[in-house]
Amino acid sequence: MIKKCLFPAAGYGTRFLPATKAMPKEMLPVVNKPLIQYGVEEALDAGLNEISIVTGRGKRALEDHFDISYELENQIKGTDKEKYLVGIRKLLDECSFSYTRQTEMKGLGHAILTGRPLIGDEPFAVVLADDLCVNLEGDGVLTQMVKLYKQFRCSIIAIQEVDPSETSKYGVIAGEMIRDDIYRVHSMVEKPKPEDAPSNLAIIGRYILTPDIFDLIEQTEPGKGGEIQITDALMKQAQNGCVMAYKFKGKRFDCGGAEGYIEATNFCFENFYKTGKAY
Ligand code: UTP
Repeated sequence: MIKKCLFPAAGYGTRFLPATKAMPKEMLPVVNKPLIQYGVEEALDAGLNEISIVTGRGKRALEDHFDISYELENQIKGTDKEKYLVGIRKLLDECSFSYTRQTEMKGLGHAILTGRPLIGDEPFAVVLADDLCVNLEGDGVLTQMVKLYKQFRCSIIAIQEVDPSETSKYGVIAGEMIRDDIYRVHSMVEKPKPEDAPSNLAIIGRYILTPDIFDLIEQTEPGKGGEIQITDALMKQAQNGCVMAYKFKGKRFDCGGAEGYIEATNFCFENFYKTGKAY
């Protein structure tokens, strides 16, 4: 089954400058935990314990975060502060971490292709850590998607209904509804103007991809802004076989910008930090 989860984390994070000038966007803390840790926890909950991270220049804090800090551990050993590291230690014990670098930031599709040597020829999940997803009612979003993969055996993309005025921030799908929360995707448009959008169903940062996606990305010409978009490769996959879009259960916060980040912070403070579930 699916064991691997890829985290493209090489982007510049320009919407969060100057905070992201010398610090990776994925290390921004939501209350007390960096964004990427929420993503890895969600992956592990879904049974994905082989974590692959695509990094870039200035992103070394990511590797240090998923490693033991001996001085720190020694310092707090035997004190009541040890509890603060329980969650991250669990990740270190139960996951493996591997890294590769994207040397030129040529878009999300290109970042995923850069991860190919770490993934090989098997289906895998992709998490964009700046989309923080939580479901207080039950399974995490990746767990929900892994279950669907077992049923459909094809690429699954997470979607969310957005206000029609917001379509230009997302990849947007058109498809046939086969269950009230599942669509068989026919086409996709990257960041359409509201008047050109085929629907208000926007792709968010959770995917399960079958490995044929790599060859399709290789064949993809750079699109908007000279970037290689994952949407273009997924579009070919949708034409060749099947891509399912899934309206997940739970909440998603766009932590790549200030508004979503503040909402996520308030939400996590109320639901995790104050309730003692933050470590
Ligand atoms: P975004 O466009 O949201 O991230 O890419 P960004 O480029 O870092 O942010 P802004 O728009 O400049 O503020 C979605 C995801 O894809 C990764 C990013 O790190 C982010 O997780 N990405 C994007 C790469 O890894 N490489 C790229 O070349 C582009």
